[in-house]
Amino acid sequence: MQTNKTNEQFGYFDDANYEYVITTPYTPTPWINYLGNDGFYGLISNTAGGYCFDRDPKFRRLTRYRYNSVPLDNGGRYFYIRDENDFWSATGRPVNTELDEYSCRHGMGYSRFNASKNGIATQVTSFIPLDTKAEVHSLVVTNNNDTEKTVDVFSFIEWCLWNAEDDGANFQRNLSTGEVEVEDSTIYHKTEYRERRNHYAFYSVNRELDGYDTNRESFLGQYRGFDRPQVVENGQSTNSFARGWSPIASQHLKLKLAPGESQSLEFVLGYIEVEVEDKWESKNVLNKTPAKALAARFDTHEKVNDELKKLNDYWHNLLTKFSVDTPDDKFNRAINIWNQYQNMVTFNLSRSASFYESGIGRGMGFRDSNQDTIGFAHMVPDKVKERILDLSATQKPDGSAYHQYQPLTKKGNANIGGNFNDDPMWMVLSTTNYIKETGDFSILDEMVIYDDQEEATHDHFDHLVRAFNHVVNNLGPHGLPLIGRADWNDCLNLNCFSENPNESYQTTQRGASDVAESVMIAGQFVLYGQEFVDLCLELGKFELAASCLAHVDTMRSTIEQHAWDGEWYLRAYDSRGEKVGSNENEEGKIFIESQGFCAMAGVGLDNGKVKQALDSVEKHLSTDFGIMLNQPAFSSYNKYLGEITSYPPGYKENAGIFCHNNPWITISEAMIGRGEKAYEYYSKITPAYLQDVQTLHKTEPYVYSQMVAGNDSANPGEAKNSWLTGTAAWNYYAATQYILGIRPVYSGLEIDPCILPSWDKVNVKREFRGAQYDIELRNPNGLSKGQIELNIDGQSVEGSIINATTYSGQHTVVATLV
Ligand code: GLC
Ligand code: GLC
Repeated sequence: MQTNKTNEQFGYFDDANYEYVITTPYTPTPWINYLGNDGFYGLISNTAGGYCFDRDPKFRRLTRYRYNSVPLDNGGRYFYIRDENDFWSATGRPVNTELDEYSCRHGMGYSRFNASKNGIATQVTSFIPLDTKAEVHSLVVTNNNDTEKTVDVFSFIEWCLWNAEDDGANFQRNLSTGEVEVEDSTIYHKTEYRERRNHYAFYSVNRELDGYDTNRESFLGQYRGFDRPQVVENGQSTNSFARGWSPIASQHLKLKLAPGESQSLEFVLGYIEVEVEDKWESKNVLNKTPAKALAARFDTHEKVNDELKKLNDYWHNLLTKFSVDTPDDKFNRAINIWNQYQNMVTFNLSRSASFYESGIGRGMGFRDSNQDTIGFAHMVPDKVKERILDLSATQKPDGSAYHQYQPLTKKGNANIGGNFNDDPMWMVLSTTNYIKETGDFSILDEMVIYDDQEEATHDHFDHLVRAFNHVVNNLGPHGLPLIGRADWNDCLNLNCFSENPNESYQTTQRGASDVAESVMIAGQFVLYGQEFVDLCLELGKFELAASCLAHVDTMRSTIEQHAWDGEWYLRAYDSRGEKVGSNENEEGKIFIESQGFCAMAGVGLDNGKVKQALDSVEKHLSTDFGIMLNQPAFSSYNKYLGEITSYPPGYKENAGIFCHNNPWITISEAMIGRGEKAYEYYSKITPAYLQDVQTLHKTEPYVYSQMVAGNDSANPGEAKNSWLTGTAAWNYYAATQYILGIRPVYSGLEIDPCILPSWDKVNVKREFRGAQYDIELRNPNGLSKGQIELNIDGQSVEGSIINATTYSGQHTVVATLV
């Protein structure tokens, strides 16, 4: 393996600092990080490209970014440094001047850029402080020469005119609407403030200016790019004032630096909302008081450092609620740092804004957001509760759900509607997982509206009952659940029959859709239906439990009877009642989703079907880079199957490695005790293990990507769509609850690992319902799975569950695998 070579090419992990260090501006794709924790967010690449927004990346975008631009990654928070006739970027790009030194450290909620050239060293630290609607960019310039230097600094951001979709499309209007104000060292962006907006943005710096520009063309010069602005070349701002066209904010600061001297500049890119009656200071002059107060919180280097420290403490606290020490550094790194961090990002952004999701298309997905909660319930349980209840409120009275809701209004998205029939049961997963983590059953008593209501008349538990019944009330000819528009696989559109390229597969549904059935939903119903039965038993609702159990049991036998193909589980029946995912098919003979769900649900566990299905997965779907979604790939478009057959073979849902579903197989392998297989599937898609193949893999080596190209593609192993993927939560859940086997249950914390036989000892620190456990898992006989002998604080304890009502405070647990 050529590990070091490739590592040196792009970067390396610095685990002690919870950072990934990127050593070149020219990564295969922009390698990004996220700033912000609570409603105000920024995306930032390894050269400071990206944008920020308040809550909704479509309707409240502050800065402009060009997706799919040439060159890549255009638009960001740029700092141009000019020394006599030379100039460069403090963040490595967009100026392509070769630097003597460059690095970008992506950390937890911040990114730091170091550059040096001609003996001038710069450091930019970018972050969004806690409870703050602003990006702070702290720039330190140091003169390492033995002579005095005068250095010109030019900042640059370009304003987005709020509605990001309109901003990129409606030029007949928006080239006339741009408005700014400049006062002292602050540039205010107030486009559309004269009319219905009661929000504006500003860019400030804590020092007197030597000039500014607010008009893009004046700054760049005609027909120039971000790589060589005219103003920077000339060494002097023009004090331009934008009226329409494209407003920007650029500040010019001249620093005189003695040998060895450092000076710092604190830039604040802030967002302000004011009450309608407080909008103006005088006619057409905006009320700047709140902006000044916000900027003043960060007007010294000390204040900024204090805020950065608070942010670091916040993350440290979150990430140490669960930490692990196994003999495998990569496993530790993934679990302790990056996977948890990515889980939090998926909590904040769902699938809305990344370098692949343009922030204008999608809201919070019902199925995605419910699933995501299993990755961070241990870190932010209160926010999980709120999220689940928000989702619950977009449910319809018949138990179905809006497929997405919009974060600003928290209302179901009518453009996409519902009828994705896997949606309802995911709420059983999120809710039971939340209760098992926290012990807080009160979530079930919260009164929650149904989407058509003004006032809530039913509690959240009732929402779960209706979710369960939605499956029961929507069964097809074989007694399997009807698929509706699609199940988990958005692209398996069995009721769409689209022949018109201008139609959306997601929203088009033809006919009554009372034939096509999903075996994935069937398995999901058995798994989470059983969860629901267990919940009813916990609550003492025995009658309900019994009637639900009857439905679950019926579904089990229906699957065995109608959905077993001989060596694996079928995927579906299409609208004509024909099998999908059968050995009888020419293409798409076997699919991963139904194997995963039927196996996790234990359908056919006692008669060998689970094992056989998993063996078939290994035989037909497993590759060096993970498990493909289906095989053989579809070679041509088939309107009866829909979008899945629209993709070229090996990509996305057509036989790509769609990482989100791989953990379902990992969990299933762990459940039947095959620790080496479970680890193998886990590690194949985990980025910490992919350092050696970065040139091929392309996306960030610290986070999961949605999709890795499969064997039918031109470049097997090449990834796309990094960051916002259900893979993060699911692989974390698989690793912690099934490989390590530290699993919250209603009564406490169960220990039921399925590990590599070579792991002789694993240490876990786990906060759980107010207690802290130091758990040492011992494996003296080199097993994967076995019985657990439990010893708590020196006392041997029956069973494998740490009872949550018995313990509080700090405890030492030894669990021995025998
Ligand atoms: C995307 C969607 C998710 C869906 C998956 C498979 O990741 O966000 O909802 O389940 O694709 O189609
Ligand atoms: C979903 C999924 C994606 C799929 C797309 C098709 O949004 O994210 O995997 O390709 O639907 O529209």
